[in-house]
Amino acid sequence: MQTRTFSGYVGLVALLFGLLPMSVAHGHGEKMPEKKGILLVAFGSTFPEAQVAFDNIGLSVKKAFPGVPVRWAYTSRMIIRKMATKGTHLATPEEALAGMMRENFTHVAVQSLHTIPGQEFHGLRKNAHRFAGMSKGIKRVLVGYPLLATSADVQRAADVMLKVTPAERQKEDAVVFMGHGTHHPANVYYAALAYHVQKLDPNIFVGTVETWPGIEEIKADLKKRSIKKVYLMPFMSVAGDHARNDMAGPNPDSWKSILEKEGISCVPVLKGTAEYQEFVDIWVDHLKIAFGHFD
Ligand code: CO
Repeated sequence: MQTRTFSGYVGLVALLFGLLPMSVAHGHGEKMPEKKGILLVAFGSTFPEAQVAFDNIGLSVKKAFPGVPVRWAYTSRMIIRKMATKGTHLATPEEALAGMMRENFTHVAVQSLHTIPGQEFHGLRKNAHRFAGMSKGIKRVLVGYPLLATSADVQRAADVMLKVTPAERQKEDAVVFMGHGTHHPANVYYAALAYHVQKLDPNIFVGTVETWPGIEEIKADLKKRSIKKVYLMPFMSVAGDHARNDMAGPNPDSWKSILEKEGISCVPVLKGTAEYQEFVDIWVDHLKIAFGHFD
């Protein structure tokens, strides 16, 4: 008799504890059904030609996540401002997340389409996380890593670089990839990438347009190896301003002009990394990891 009373009491307490938080969360009859979404965030580009790279990523993401709504945002304020003057409104990640909050998304996987975990990525991560756990808002926000994050990513990217070099390239020709470069500590990724790719093929180089290693270091290495011909390729998601002007442009300080002055013939390849499926797969895999944490 006493046991039954006791177990009945325990049952009642368990029932109360079990039901109480639910009734609070669903107060005023506002039930929030689970709604998962994806936010793709790129640096952005003012070049219309760059759109093919973004479209390519968008298609791959839709294929990997059928039925999941996908939104876009851009981290470069300069690009957002420039595009606005042309009449195109690009959303910042914060605007996009606020919009998704309004659309009653409960779980958002934000995928960084940046190349390295530098300033753009860390800023995005910080702000995106602030949209999680808000009252009547998004419950969870997870941010997927950029192209290069782990050592395995760097190794994988190096393998892809080898695969995407032009088919007509001869062994004695060099391939020089132009990365962006940053003053953020994550600039070391370019040196790590160069290390891995040179193990696979000593005639493939990685430099940066803004920082170290720059074209002067690369030029010295090319001369040391008596390289006569170079394929120039951007190591940026899109072949935008840097690729078209600083890498392949006619101005005297472009990489093409600098190397041609040394008697090295240059063949620029104006395709961003996001135009090659093997690179896109790395971003998509990072998104799968982030999205997978919602299950
Ligand atoms: Co730049």
